[in-house]
Amino acid sequence: MIGRLNHVAIAVKDLAASTALYRDTLGARVSQPLPQPEHGVTVVFVELPNTKVELLEPLGADSPIGKFLERNADGGIHHICYEVDDILAARDRLKAQGARVLGSGEPRIGAHGKPVLFLHPKDFCGTLVELEQA
Ligand code: CO
Repeated sequence: MIGRLNHVAIAVKDLAASTALYRDTLGARVSQPLPQPEHGVTVVFVELPNTKVELLEPLGADSPIGKFLERNADGGIHHICYEVDDILAARDRLKAQGARVLGSGEPRIGAHGKPVLFLHPKDFCGTLVELEQA
């Protein structure tokens, strides 16, 4: 059911320093910072040949990654995103197997303008999973 790895999202405290690390130390192609107030983050996209890494810095007081960074002072992998062909069919299949979908259970428009859902980390090896309709 799941397809390509769309991205790995890494929460960071200092977006400029993290961007420089990926650009200068690791030699990756990085985007300009993109504030996404509706998601409570500023994002830098790291473009790799086969997927993306997204560096997420909190934006605003109640950012969804604020608590994560309180627990992970050095930052860390926040979620991984898999593509699916049909997000509603994927959701229904997962729910039928007992997986917990976060929030209302209805897809929201994610950072790439496509419908996304998040799955409870306790149901997926301790990893927050994002599904994005390809
Ligand atoms: Co994501």
